[in-house]
Amino acid sequence: MRIMYLFLGLYLLSVIGFFLIADHQDPAHNGARLTSQMGQRKVCHHNPNLPKGRPIIFVLGGPGSGKGTQCDRIVRDFGYLHLSAGDLLRDEVKYGTEIGQECEQLMKDGKLVPVEVTLKLIKKAMKENRNSTTGFLIDGFPRAVDQAEVFEKKVGRPKLVVFLDCPREEMEKRLLKRGETSGRSDDNMDTILKRFDTFLLESMPVVKYYDNLQPGLVIKVSSVPPPDDVYKEIYCAILGFRGEMDTDPMCAALHHSDSCDRLSFA
Ligand code: AP5
Ligand code: MG
Repeated sequence: MRIMYLFLGLYLLSVIGFFLIADHQDPAHNGARLTSQMGQRKVCHHNPNLPKGRPIIFVLGGPGSGKGTQCDRIVRDFGYLHLSAGDLLRDEVKYGTEIGQECEQLMKDGKLVPVEVTLKLIKKAMKENRNSTTGFLIDGFPRAVDQAEVFEKKVGRPKLVVFLDCPREEMEKRLLKRGETSGRSDDNMDTILKRFDTFLLESMPVVKYYDNLQPGLVIKVSSVPPPDDVYKEIYCAILGFRGEMDTDPMCAALHHSDSCDRLSFA
């Protein structure tokens, strides 16, 4: 009789173990399984490559839409590590590395550098800082669907994708103005036009990719108003996935009115 109970116990344990492992390996849950509503995101990490407990936020938008400007504010308030794909590449160019030499002309032409290059730089920076930061704020990456797919597979899913929506004429005006002093080799009319083309052709589909992958993951924010006004909605969305929405009266009000603009391409 005792042996029978022992076998029964072992059998039950193995069944439970099987279900636990099956859930862990479900490819549909690669990275993180999220169900999201503004302020009520439930997040379950499954990908062992994802730095534990450190959220990833992507900030996407056209050239000059204000990615860097908004990231400065997020860093100020949440202390996440800001990784700008463009800045990482410009550093390589500045120090004349092999990667820099390979990418300099592509950047001057407003084209994308190969996915292996950006992914390598981002992953390296994430790895180096995984113990010293509370989260990762990645600006200008992914910029093409293949970049998003490989990141999803090898690193994981972001908790939030911020898409800064800005009319072309406004972005052009900002970049030309910045070009007067920035020293950036791509802040000139010729390259700006090419950057717009690349953005429309290759980067806009990334926004759609994440929206299809997980409705509610992307928030679309108009970046036409002054920077601090643009930031309000981003700030609330971050509080939302941190489960802190109700700690700020402005965000709590936004939450209850549910005025946040979720994308829908349907
Ligand atoms: P990257 O450096 O990312 O350039 P970008 O996407 O063209 O964007 P910018 O950095 O020019 O603008 P931003 O959106 O950050 O705006 P900012 O806050 O500065 O990439 C450069 C190149 O690197 C690419 O073209 C590509 O070649 C390569 N690359 C990068 N990532 C890659 C990837 N993942 N894969 C392959 N290749 C990659 O603001 C702009 C100006 O507007 C500022 O003067 C600011 O003060 C002003 N401003 C900002 N917000 C406002 C506002 N709300 N109202 C008024 N003015 C504002
Ligand atoms: Mg930038």
